Amino acid sequence: MRVHVADHPLITHKLTVLRDENTPSPTFRALTEELVTLLAYEATRDVRVEEVTIQTPVTQTTGVAISEPRPLVVPILRAGLGMLEGMVKLMPSAEVGFLGMVRNEETLEPSVYAERLPDDLSNRQCFVLDPMLATGGSLLSAIEYLFARGAQDVTCVCILAAPEGLAAIEKAVEGRDVTIVLGALDEKLNEHGYIVPGLGDAGDRLYGTV
Ligand code: URA
Repeated sequence: MRVHVADHPLITHKLTVLRDENTPSPTFRALTEELVTLLAYEATRDVRVEEVTIQTPVTQTTGVAISEPRPLVVPILRAGLGMLEGMVKLMPSAEVGFLGMVRNEETLEPSVYAERLPDDLSNRQCFVLDPMLATGGSLLSAIEYLFARGAQDVTCVCILAAPEGLAAIEKAVEGRDVTIVLGALDEKLNEHGYIVPGLGDAGDRLYGTV
């Protein structure tokens, strides 16, 4: 598994505002989108392309185009939805599938409650969006779900991660092609499964408590 932690002052600046409990939902949503676009640049570094020939106004030349089958972007509902626009802004030709995962707040175990994905993911590069890699349970379920459908490789874009969750995923996906791109790697998980220092409940901060 490859892990890439962003190292850029603009990302750290935006993250700091995101963490601030006084940042209201509209600002939180806008910043999440901006941050994901910056992280998407790194996450798509190995996106598959093929050579194409084009005609400029001056001459014929070669360039590249994103290969078929198109990459699949999979936001994990609900909080991953807040990352979708930022991702497809950078890669508008991607297809989008949805995976709804819910975490039991007592056992912290994830389960799938909704799914809208192509049946066959053979040769697909998949990009999973989930802002908070906490215990890693729901992200791991999503990764396994995609590989079970035939995904070629899975890149996860997360805003924050806890070392415990990252280690759990690393152990579970050993030998498979998984990349995790993070805005920051935080200190730890607390006894309620929250990332510390973190930013609180990402879904609530994006959409309010429902
Ligand atoms: N999910 C969140 O939204 N925040 C955390 O800190 C952990 C899981």
